[in-house]
Amino acid sequence: MKTVVIPLDSAAPDKEALAEAARVLRRGGLVAFPTETVYGLGAHALDAAAAARIFAAKGRPANNPLIVHLADAAGVQQVVANWPEPAERLVKRFWPGPLTLVLPRRDTVPDVVTAKGPTVAVRVPAHPVAQALLRTADVPIAAPSANRSTELSPTRAEHVLRSLDGRIEMLLDGGPTSGGIESTVLDLTTTPPRLLRPGPISIAELEAEIGTVARVCSSTVAARNGLHPLPSPGMMPRHYAPRTPLECIETGKEPECLASLLRAKRRIGWVTFAGPGERIVPSEVHLRVLPSDPAGYAAQLYAVLHELDVAGLDHILVTLPPDTEDWLAVRDRLRRAAHS
Ligand code: TXA
Ligand code: MG
Repeated sequence: MKTVVIPLDSAAPDKEALAEAARVLRRGGLVAFPTETVYGLGAHALDAAAAARIFAAKGRPANNPLIVHLADAAGVQQVVANWPEPAERLVKRFWPGPLTLVLPRRDTVPDVVTAKGPTVAVRVPAHPVAQALLRTADVPIAAPSANRSTELSPTRAEHVLRSLDGRIEMLLDGGPTSGGIESTVLDLTTTPPRLLRPGPISIAELEAEIGTVARVCSSTVAARNGLHPLPSPGMMPRHYAPRTPLECIETGKEPECLASLLRAKRRIGWVTFAGPGERIVPSEVHLRVLPSDPAGYAAQLYAVLHELDVAGLDHILVTLPPDTEDWLAVRDRLRRAAHS
């Protein structure tokens, strides 16, 4: 299959192009599109055969459910059975935006979308292209990140092509995404609600709206202890990983680590964040310095990892940001990206 790539001006997306993408979706095809977090791989969410094609294109295990995207909160009624009071408050504050809510599903949602579970994940994205596509298609769109399963999420159209060229009908290229990491996922079917995936909306922001949120996203612990089924299958420990081996190290350990890799003649990439003091780095090391604030860092992280991943390196070292709650989402993605 040939993947048609359509460049779109995010500020004023071309109506004809959107109409064509909407036609492809309504006929059961796959269209990748930008959201404010990462690129999504979209299919008609109420068409079981279309949604099943997402799993085939990604090589995604059937037990990992999909997020259903809607143009606005009113549209959620099509897929959700009931709407608890905390959902109302969260939606008023954070939608459209990078917050996914897990709620009781309606029977209209095909089993393939929910992995046969009793719940469905829903989100109203803020990106103007995602918004325009949802409104033009006028159907709920199931969309995981537009990458092959376990690989790095895409924040640019070229990342999508690297992973899915020839496997999908269409790609809407709206330029780099701004958020850079996947949405926060919150399960509202439990008391208290549970954070399934940390993301751009922090626990503190959620708790300011709805009170206590349980932190069960200690993914590696759950998976190692063989908890089954996983509360959120995306909590698999190895996920979002580049092909090049990636190792996370604590601040201060870098000189020692770099020296031993260089002695072994390894080609190295090193990702760290801006901080005080000078860095003395051997010229053969591919150094990338990210912003020292969590949002700025997250916005660039995947693009930098994609770039280093195609640079023909043997090893990517990443200095871990501080172990504080504001860095929770970034540290979660880094741990999953690490091969060891
Ligand atoms: O930012 C995002 O959320 C992006 C953009 C495209 O919207 N999408 C995304 O989708 O990251 P995906 O499929 O890569 O991750 C969805 C996560 C997975 O961890 C999945 O297991 C979880 O949400 N999930 C989906 N439905 C669920 C459900 N009913 N119950 C629990 N977890 C669910
Ligand atoms: Mg994903």
